Amino acid sequence: MASVAAEADAQQEGAGISRREFLYYIWGASLALFTAQMGGLLVWFLIPRFREGEFGGRFILPIDILPEVNAPPENFPEGRFWLVNLDTAADQGQERMYLAPDEEEPIRGVTAIYKVCTHLGCIYAWVSANNRFECPCHGSKYRLDGRRIESPAPRTLDRFLLEALDANRAPLAQSEISAVDFYQPLELPAETAFLSIDTGARRQGPSQTLICSFTGNCP
Ligand code: FES
Repeated sequence: MASVAAEADAQQEGAGISRREFLYYIWGASLALFTAQMGGLLVWFLIPRFREGEFGGRFILPIDILPEVNAPPENFPEGRFWLVNLDTAADQGQERMYLAPDEEEPIRGVTAIYKVCTHLGCIYAWVSANNRFECPCHGSKYRLDGRRIESPAPRTLDRFLLEALDANRAPLAQSEISAVDFYQPLELPAETAFLSIDTGARRQGPSQTLICSFTGNCP
């Protein structure tokens, strides 16, 4: 009898690992692989997708880059936005920034406008001769603050979240959100030293009446 058991042990040793041990190893390896995958996913999730200063991230700009009130917009191609400084109550630049008949309150403050047309996504341009943004693809026109003057654009140009920062880059104020879920121009506090534009935080412009329809000269 003893010799039969010894023979069985010898056979098992000769065969290497048992079936049960093999399953344990497979299970352990699967668990280790799963844990590594989850860890990798977590790291990927925690690492910011976009760095500061590249599109999709935040741009910190000194206040002196801001255009004058109602002046032509400042172009930031790397951030894909225009920076505008608006005041419909100011004397200067009325040919560029003015109130439409359905706007009662003055429009005042700074905003960052996305450079992509709301119609089919072309890159529009500021046309100084006409004091407005114009899209070369299908002819949409926009006022200095991005509101539609002429279609086929379905809505106002989109805007990015804008913050005013002090000299230590601490936040002072940020764009408020209107009743139609849109960033309003920000009136900058006196201590503002930097502007932060978050190109990862974009809100779609609303569908307001075409400005040309008030004057009856829509094409
Ligand atoms: S994409 Fe701008 S008007 Fe069509």
